[in-house]
Amino acid sequence: MYETKLLPADKESIDQAAELIKSGEVVGMPTETVYGLAANALDPEAVKKIFIAKGRPQDNPLIVHISSLDMLDGLVVYVPEIAKRCAEAFWPGPLTMILPKTDRIPLTTSAGLDTVGIRMPSNKTARALIEASGVPIAAPSANLSGSPSPTKAEHVFNDLKGRIPCILDDGSCAVGVESTVIAFEGNRIRLLRPGFVSAEELSELCDGVIIDKGVTEAVAADAKVASPGMKYKHYAPKADITIIDGSLDAFREYCKDKDSNAILMVFDESDGSDLPQQAIVYGNTGEEQAQKLFDVLRRLDEIGAEKVYARCPDKSGVGLAVYNRLLRAAAFRVIKL
Ligand code: TXA
Ligand code: MG
Repeated sequence: MYETKLLPADKESIDQAAELIKSGEVVGMPTETVYGLAANALDPEAVKKIFIAKGRPQDNPLIVHISSLDMLDGLVVYVPEIAKRCAEAFWPGPLTMILPKTDRIPLTTSAGLDTVGIRMPSNKTARALIEASGVPIAAPSANLSGSPSPTKAEHVFNDLKGRIPCILDDGSCAVGVESTVIAFEGNRIRLLRPGFVSAEELSELCDGVIIDKGVTEAVAADAKVASPGMKYKHYAPKADITIIDGSLDAFREYCKDKDSNAILMVFDESDGSDLPQQAIVYGNTGEEQAQKLFDVLRRLDEIGAEKVYARCPDKSGVGLAVYNRLLRAAAFRVIKL
């Protein structure tokens, strides 16, 4: 058991967290997407502690975070031209690229795969922590496995208090959903997990973006998938969420006779006006929705929501990431109107 400290993201705390990482410990780290659970990616014993702290299945690989392109040397076998273009366009930032790994990345980190997901975050604290640690940092989202990803230090604290020595508190995450995860197939990109960097933006750098089936469809637990994370139940609050895919009018018509104890997840305050249920706003644009989604999912648990009807986000741009996360939170229940 640790006495988990919430530390301000200043130089002194970053140095303290870096010392912990160097000594094989696990710390809570802010990034621009969501908070991560950080350890030395090259130390299998440290990485094991990540899996234990969040109760993560052993076959789900971790993303390795770097703070400069130089750090890539020795971690991956080669970097194809298309990956270089993506790095140029979107690093530092919310993009993870799957590349062939070298033996320097332990199999514990890659969960036995011969590839590794690499990302260069843009958040200043994350970059300073990687730099001060002097090693690439493995970091999954810092939630207990199965809960919504954390976008505030207090979310991390609520999930992991007692399990890690400290969390660097850098306020709310700017993006709010996890990074876009991509793999390369020749000069095409396979989108494994949608994020803030959109399929539309990626398509400008290659000969086409293939949206992996797992992005919008349920994957069987025993299926062989390109990205193991897709098969796990995710982001799920205790409430039973149903996504209502249709116009605002259709949504209002659908909800008006439903249980008044249900909670509505709406874009805008006015969407829920005159309806019998309490409405929680999650934003009008894809960007706003991404930033708020996980906080709203956690709030649903806090208020003891049992039944939730959610307006379906627009599925273009960053909206696809919002839809992908909400779909999992809703256990793939969608009503098309
Ligand atoms: O924004 C993010 O990516 C955050 C922050 C902390 O950087 N991290 C994050 O990590 O979301 P995690 O572990 O919660 O999600 C990583 C996802 C999982 O779905 C995993 O299966 C996939 O990336 N992944 C990692 N390495 C992979 C690999 N070698 N091949 C295929 N998928 C991989
Ligand atoms: Mg995660």
